Amino acid sequence: MTIANSTPKRLEAIRYQRGELFLLDQLKLPHHTEFFSVRNSVEGAQAIALMKVRGAPAIAVTAALSLAVEMPALANSHSALKSFAQAIEERLETLGKSRPTAVNLFQTIGQLREILALGLSTLPDTTQGVKTLAENIVNYAESMLEKDLSDNRAIGAFGADLFKNSGSKSLRILTHCNTGSLATVGYGTALGVIRALHERNQLAHAYATETRPYNQGARLTAFELVFEQIPATLITDSMASFLMAREKIDAVVVGADRVVANGDTANKVGTYQLAIAAKHHDVPFYVAAPVTSIDTTLASGHEIHIEERPSQELTHIFGQRIAADGIGVWNPSFDVTPSKLISGIITEVGVIYHRALDTTIDVREFLKGKGLR
Ligand code: MRU
Repeated sequence: MTIANSTPKRLEAIRYQRGELFLLDQLKLPHHTEFFSVRNSVEGAQAIALMKVRGAPAIAVTAALSLAVEMPALANSHSALKSFAQAIEERLETLGKSRPTAVNLFQTIGQLREILALGLSTLPDTTQGVKTLAENIVNYAESMLEKDLSDNRAIGAFGADLFKNSGSKSLRILTHCNTGSLATVGYGTALGVIRALHERNQLAHAYATETRPYNQGARLTAFELVFEQIPATLITDSMASFLMAREKIDAVVVGADRVVANGDTANKVGTYQLAIAAKHHDVPFYVAAPVTSIDTTLASGHEIHIEERPSQELTHIFGQRIAADGIGVWNPSFDVTPSKLISGIITEVGVIYHRALDTTIDVREFLKGKGLR
């Protein structure tokens, strides 16, 4: 089932009420606002793989909710706890194959596996046990909605606090890809920082890169900025260095798909070159991401699995070939920005800094200090 709506009242990628999940088809933006129904985890995994829903937090929430909506039917078809848990595990494996780089998805799958393990060891092996386990899965998935929204508001506040001493309407911030309401449950991470600065009347102007090859900046961030009436200008990715040379840019703020133990960060391809340009022009470069985007099991960015996407995303725009037929294509969806180029990582529990100049960022120590992990 699809619901078409040309002027949304508020920006949201995910519409959920118990038993029903609708996703905004982001491939159709900015021309059409169309929600489609997701009835189970297979459809959830498909929507993620096709990038109808995208952005690290939105991917994780979609995965959990797509599983949640199929819980009643799945629970009804199982009377034994073990076989029910096995059926859920198979669905988690399917969801885990949808996109590899954003760690939020795998953190969520890990949490759901913990719920399964706890259920198997504590619940009775009866239909009531099956029902309770299904409810626990649904409750966890639903709790992600509120948590993501409040995390994003906290990220926005911590990020805006970094510029506390700037005058009113003075700040010019550059961002990349789409990290706003469309990439999350709402408000956004890096775009949330921009939103918070705008709310505090401190933002002069936002700059958004178009974000080739899939144009999340031109299609989605531009759409959000116009929708929110935030003063903003779109540039191509290749204009960023020149913009920094010509305009005073106060900071670059981007999102993350995976921040590892030494602070190296995977984000949308093109982020790394922005960090290099920022360093050259003495512009602070911040990553804004929830703790669920942090993966301390990996020591450095070299270990991050970088997704490679189909060549058509480069050679075609909206189905129209723009590249010469027969050309070879390399299409990594993300790149890795070394920790040394990052001024700080803005999370919902505070900003992670380097301990000393020219060192990497010790993410593990920060989390330990906050009593997390
Ligand atoms: O390929 P995408 O559109 O899923 O990539 C999105 C990004 O790289 C975002 O910056 C990241 O996921 C953070 S979204 C809050």
